[in-house]
Amino acid sequence: MPSVVDMEILIVGAHGTIGTAVTEHFRALGHSVTTVGRTRGDIRCDMADDVQLEAMWRSVGRTDAVVCAAGEVPFAPFEKLTTADFADAWNRKALAQINLVRMGVDNVAPDGSFALISGIPSRDPVMTGTAAATVNGAVEAFVRAAAIEIAPQRINVVSPSVLTESLHAFDASFPGFPPVDAADIARAFRKCVEGGNTGKVIELP
Ligand SMILES: NC(=O)c1ccc[n+]([C@@H]2O[C@H](COP(=O)([O-])OP(=O)(O)OC[C@H]3O[C@@H](n4cnc5c(N)ncnc54)[C@H](OP(=O)(O)O)[C@@H]3O)[C@@H](O)[C@H]2O)c1
Repeated sequence: MPSVVDMEILIVGAHGTIGTAVTEHFRALGHSVTTVGRTRGDIRCDMADDVQLEAMWRSVGRTDAVVCAAGEVPFAPFEKLTTADFADAWNRKALAQINLVRMGVDNVAPDGSFALISGIPSRDPVMTGTAAATVNGAVEAFVRAAAIEIAPQRINVVSPSVLTESLHAFDASFPGFPPVDAADIARAFRKCVEGGNTGKVIELP
C-alpha cells in the first residue's frame, strides 16, 4: 500500500471548479499532485483524444492514484438533443474517462486507485438532463464492472448534486436540489484515494 502521507496523484481537470478544490485538498494533505487539463496544468491533454491520452501516460510514468474532475455534457430539452449531442456526451464524459482508466492501468501502482466523476442526473433526473443522465449512468456502470477486473487496483466514482459554486449557472436546471460544496467533493475523492472501497458510487449529498 502506498504511504497515505505522500502519494503521487494525477488529477485531470485540476483547474476546473471541482478540480481546483480537489487539488488544494490533496496538496494540503501532503500528497504530490500532477495536474492535467486541456489548456492548463503540468500536462496538457484532451482526455477525449486517444493519441493525447497515450502521450500523457507515456510522460506520467508511474502514479499511485488518478482522480478525474473533468468531462462535459450538453444540457438541452429532450426534443432538441441530437445524435451528435449524445455522441458528444458519450465521447467527452463517458468514453474519455473509460479510456483514461483503460490506457492507464499499467501506469498505476498495483495497489493504487482511480476515482472518476459522474453526477446526480443519473439517479435523480432533471429537465434538459437526458444526455447527462445517460452518460453519468454509463460511467457508474463502468466503475462497478471494472472494479472486479482490475483488483487489487481500486476504482470508484463520485456522483455529486449541483455545486454551490455553480448555482449561478445551474440553479434553474436543478430546482430544489440540495447543492454540494466543492470542498465536500474533495473529501469524497480523498475517501476514494486513501480508503479501501472499490466499485462504489459515492453520492453527494
Ligand atoms: N459543476 C457542477 O455543478 C457539477 C455537478 C456534478 C457533476 N459535475 C461534473 O464534474 C466535472 C467537472 O465539472 P466542473 O464544474 O468542475 O467543470 P469546469 O469548471 O468546467 O472544469 C472542468 C475542467 O476539466 C477540464 N477538462 C474538460 N474536458 C477535458 C478533457 N476532455 N480533457 C482534459 N481536461 C478536460 C477543463 O480544462 P480546460 O479548461 O483546460 O478545458 C477544466 O479545467 C464534469 O464532468 C461535470 O459534469 C459538475
